[in-house]
Amino acid sequence: MKALVLSGGSGTRLRPITHTSPKQLVPVANKPVLYYVLEDIARSGITEVGIVVGVGHSADEIQNAVGDGFAFGLRVTYLPQMAPLGLAHAVLIARDYLGDDDFVMYLGDNFVLGGIAEPVRGFRADRPDAHILLTRVPDPTAFGVAELDRHGRVVGLEEKPKQPRSDMALVGVYLFTPAVHEAVRAIEPSWRGELEITHAIQWLIDSGHDVRSTVITGYWKDTGNVPDMLELNRSVLEGIEPRTEGSVDADSQVIGRVRIEADAEVHGSRIVGPAVIGVGAVIRDSYVGPYTSISDNCRIDDTEIEFSIVLRDAHLYGLRRVRDSLIGRSATVTSMPRIPSSNRLVLGDHSEVQISS
Ligand code: G1P
Repeated sequence: MKALVLSGGSGTRLRPITHTSPKQLVPVANKPVLYYVLEDIARSGITEVGIVVGVGHSADEIQNAVGDGFAFGLRVTYLPQMAPLGLAHAVLIARDYLGDDDFVMYLGDNFVLGGIAEPVRGFRADRPDAHILLTRVPDPTAFGVAELDRHGRVVGLEEKPKQPRSDMALVGVYLFTPAVHEAVRAIEPSWRGELEITHAIQWLIDSGHDVRSTVITGYWKDTGNVPDMLELNRSVLEGIEPRTEGSVDADSQVIGRVRIEADAEVHGSRIVGPAVIGVGAVIRDSYVGPYTSISDNCRIDDTEIEFSIVLRDAHLYGLRRVRDSLIGRSATVTSMPRIPSSNRLVLGDHSEVQISS
């Protein structure tokens, strides 16, 4: 059995971060979302992984971050997708790589807290033509939605329906036998111009194939937007192992579940977990509150921050108080004198800023 990981897509809802880095590499508790995906695949006993990447800079970044997969115990092959033409299109271009193997397709920005080992084990044992994972969501209109009969069988699927027939959303993890290849060749592009995997699975159902489902209660997220990223960061930080490898001076307080990585320095500061402070980061005269991930080599000076993700090499000086924020690599945020009251901004394209005034 192989895995097909989808890491193309433009990540428009995470701009401007995704102007320079693919959304699959945005870190959660200081680790890229894609790493959790690859670790989960390795834990399920699969070693052959095809990663579908776009073309250009973002594909290069993914290849630099994952390499040949050796660090994850995987053998990774990169499959370029010239344009983001849909999830079923990704299966289409992976045809030669997949051969006649069964495979799990895993969207590179999805996070399944309970992992996929159990569904993969069940699929290997029963081998239905396809097996999908479902979860209840508050707003099904943003997902593929499944309709089940009273025995729990999947009878219909719709992609992003305006009037959803259930609250059962398709999780971005799909298990397939080679039967799916005929389905992805048979379907037509949707209104959004994409070959939808949802339609391919519907095609399998309509042509009498055995399509089964499992409802997962474990937490999962499509990490395509900032509130979801922050929420996932919160959830993952709750499970981290507290440890201090860097240095904390006598004037500092570290409370709760906090991980301070090697070469990090904490001076005259209060850190309240769950939180993680990355390698080489320096926190001085600051408060770092719950659910905050500070990446490698950041400088946090005379600042209060909580419920946020700060990417590597960012500098924050003199800020009261930053929360619910995602701050990009090498960004600098400083304070201005209160009088005269003014704001000076140099922002990347598609940035979003809220200022208290
Ligand atoms: C895709 C699928 C959708 C599924 C979702 C899960 O949506 O089309 O059926 O529920 O992933 O993440 P997209 O990421 O293209 O909006």
